[in-house]
Amino acid sequence: MKRKFKKIAIVFLIVFIAIQFYQPKQNKGYTIDIGENFANNYKVPPSVLNSLQKACYDCHSNDTKYLWYDYIQPARMFVESHIKNGKKELNFNEFASYSNRKQQSKLEAISKEVKSGDMPLSSYTLLHHDAKLTKEEKEAIIVWIDKTLNSTN
Ligand code: HEC
Repeated sequence: MKRKFKKIAIVFLIVFIAIQFYQPKQNKGYTIDIGENFANNYKVPPSVLNSLQKACYDCHSNDTKYLWYDYIQPARMFVESHIKNGKKELNFNEFASYSNRKQQSKLEAISKEVKSGDMPLSSYTLLHHDAKLTKEEKEAIIVWIDKTLNSTN
């Protein structure tokens, strides 16, 4: 029995080491077009921008701040797939390239996600404690989006 366990452990170790060699391209070094950048097209209060950057930009921008364990497989695969799917839905670095209608609906969606607490993903905040938004930070985002949407309508 003991020997069997040892064998299984060795197989796991080999697989674990082997998958470390699979390192997909990092979400870094993309040219960040400041013309299309969210922060350059909206009058975002610095505190609101700061909240969005710490809680959302890792999956919704062209520049992820990776932590050391983000590089360890199989976590790495989940991280990259979250970034890929997150950017497809919302990319703060390309925000101004969306049509006006899409920008408005994305602002509404951001407010909704923050209100419901669905974003940032809980699987992410589990390890990225700093990305959690306080009640005050959430409120500031929601209030600012309401104000912005009302002034553009
Ligand atoms: C760990 C990665 C991750 C983080 C961090 C993250 N998101 Fe997302 N987000 C995703 C993924 C993946 C999707 C697409 C699939 C889904 O909806 O679950 C998404 C989708 C969205 C959408 C699209 C929903 C829609 O119906 O249009 C919005 C809006 C959004 N996120 C806002 C935010 C906001 C705001 C934050 C920060 C407060 C945030 N996200 C943080 C991964 C993330």
